Amino acid sequence: MREVQSWILKYKEGIEKKETKVEDVLEMENGIREKPIKNPTVTRAINAMGCSFAGLRRKEEKKIRVGVVGCGAIGSEICRAIDLDEVDGRELDLGMELKFLIDAHPERIERLRKSLRKKPDITKSDSAELDGALEEVDLVIECASQAAVREFIIPALKKGKDVMIMSVGALLCDPGLLEEVERISKDEGCRVYIPSGAVAGIDGLKSGAVGGIHSVVLTTRKPPRGFEGNAYVRERGIDVSSIKEEKTLFVGSAKKAVKHFPENINVAASLSIAGIGSEATKVKIVADPAAIENVHEIEAKGEFGKLFVRVENVPSITNPKTSYLAALSAIATLKCISHPIRVGT
Ligand SMILES: NC(=O)c1ccc[n+]([C@@H]2O[C@H](COP(=O)([O-])OP(=O)(O)OC[C@H]3O[C@@H](n4cnc5c(N)ncnc54)[C@H](O)[C@@H]3O)[C@@H](O)[C@H]2O)c1
Repeated sequence: MREVQSWILKYKEGIEKKETKVEDVLEMENGIREKPIKNPTVTRAINAMGCSFAGLRRKEEKKIRVGVVGCGAIGSEICRAIDLDEVDGRELDLGMELKFLIDAHPERIERLRKSLRKKPDITKSDSAELDGALEEVDLVIECASQAAVREFIIPALKKGKDVMIMSVGALLCDPGLLEEVERISKDEGCRVYIPSGAVAGIDGLKSGAVGGIHSVVLTTRKPPRGFEGNAYVRERGIDVSSIKEEKTLFVGSAKKAVKHFPENINVAASLSIAGIGSEATKVKIVADPAAIENVHEIEAKGEFGKLFVRVENVPSITNPKTSYLAALSAIATLKCISHPIRVGT
């Protein structure tokens, strides 16, 4: 047994009542000492008095544990942001840690894992025996595909985990999925985050919807190569490589747009959910050889007046079908989750 040091005795009563914490003693002692002491000196002194340590530390800041499904363009940006806690030298202060990575292509997991400082231990290529991985996290981020929303997000919600969904189109295309997500998250008390993705103006639309919106039109304009491999375009006999001037590929409801352009038009789904629904929200999709960027224009009219927003997006380096802003919006949503002050509606 160590000898009890006299200086600690003045804190004894507070320590026994659990009113004075280890950090309080440290602060007070270092306020009066010439030579500062460190945490272990205090814990040794408390130990020598025979006091229990239970409840003697200020609440330690708990990191939010994150699992990511999809190690492609968006998933990689998100994981690096969490890992470094910065984007291009701009500090994020997320206070998050990566716990698992899932991708149908194991080599993509490995490539991403190699680029991280703190490598998540759990990796998986499908949803088999997912429960163990879900136990390890507080938040599951889907940035994979529409199919992955039902496959991973529903089990995560059932386990009481918060989720972020990037493949928002699934909530309109998969019948009953939006209602199921809503019901389970209510029952389990979970949060479902849907970032603004590649558009701006969702804040105004949400506010406008409270007072009543009459119309929402989204016009999406991309270089023709952005539509390469799209089945709807191919079935209509359109060869995207031969498009020499602006060509409208689709006009219709957001509901139909998300079905035919799943990899391009998640923004239509987010706008529908934030505004007046997928039948009433109208979408026009244009292939434009003059367009360098992916451009989204939103026009909304309502009781509040009129709103017009145009975003000229830089495509992601690794996936030209995805706008860089989509990954940034996911990271900005992570900031909202971890910060006490949230600006914007
Ligand atoms: N909300 C938005 O505004 C917005 C914007 C751009 C992209 N997205 C969507 O986000 C998702 C990710 O985009 P990305 O550019 O990173 O795609 P990506 O193709 O670069 O990466 C997706 C990764 O997910 C993996 N994956 C797909 N389905 C899977 C499954 N069921 N199980 C395990 N792994 C699976 C793929 O192997 C791939 O590595 C896509 O669905 C895309 O449509 C949304």
